[in-house]
Amino acid sequence: MNFAPEFISLLRETSKLVALTGAGVSQESGLRTFRDAQTGLWAQYKPAELASTEAFRRDPKLVWDWYAWRREAVKGVRPNPGHYALAQLAKHVPEFRLITQNVDGLHHMAGNQRLIELHGNIQRVRCADCYTFTETWGDDTESVPQCSVCGGLLRPDVVWFGESLPRDQLEAAVEAARTCGVFFSIGTSGVVQPAASLALAAHNHGAVIVEINAEPTPLTPKADFVFQGKSGEILPELVKVVWVE
Ligand code: APR
Repeated sequence: MNFAPEFISLLRETSKLVALTGAGVSQESGLRTFRDAQTGLWAQYKPAELASTEAFRRDPKLVWDWYAWRREAVKGVRPNPGHYALAQLAKHVPEFRLITQNVDGLHHMAGNQRLIELHGNIQRVRCADCYTFTETWGDDTESVPQCSVCGGLLRPDVVWFGESLPRDQLEAAVEAARTCGVFFSIGTSGVVQPAASLALAAHNHGAVIVEINAEPTPLTPKADFVFQGKSGEILPELVKVVWVE
């Protein structure tokens, strides 16, 4: 892949770089995205029945089992070269922040420390009532496990539709977007708020916007540099060309 000389020097001179990732970054690890017409989770399942507080209230077992199935899927995969390339960026750029919408934990597994998880993490489980986190829960197949503190139902520590994002994570993400020189949007359809507004916040504060995605998104016309393709192929090449060679 060819990278324009002005793009390469821009990245080499950047002291503060932010990357926002979505499900597309984990696609090459074997995890399904959400909105791919054929293979996307929302092409097969209804988010209103599985990923909302109302859905959990209506049928907690159905929701618990669906996330247990996704948790097993995540356990069966590894980070891909795209995740590792982003972990490398932290070594080359003085100030690098990685913001993710993904709940799969693969960025952590690839070695990213200062990660902002906007939508939570599917490996974490907490009480729906008293918020107590737990590392262990019974695998009784009949009912949803209960909290050992208050008896409330346990749920995955992810953000469901209609729920607010964790305030500290969102504030850190907005701050990072507003103060960076370059903002990468990688593997996200850019349709879910408030994550989808971060690139525009960065743009409005003078940052250069770079999009790496398999297909065009609403952000594409506003981006300064667009690379259409697989993040697991483009990112390693970019890191090699800009910072390694
Ligand atoms: N490399 C780069 N981009 C890819 C790849 C790949 N290998 N595979 C797919 N893509 C792109 C798709 O073209 C699509 O634009 O990644 C994007 C994934 O978009 P979505 O499936 O909508 O996922 P995402 O943007 O992360 O969804 C945001 O929506 O359902 C909620 O909470 C969930 O965090 C999620 C949020």
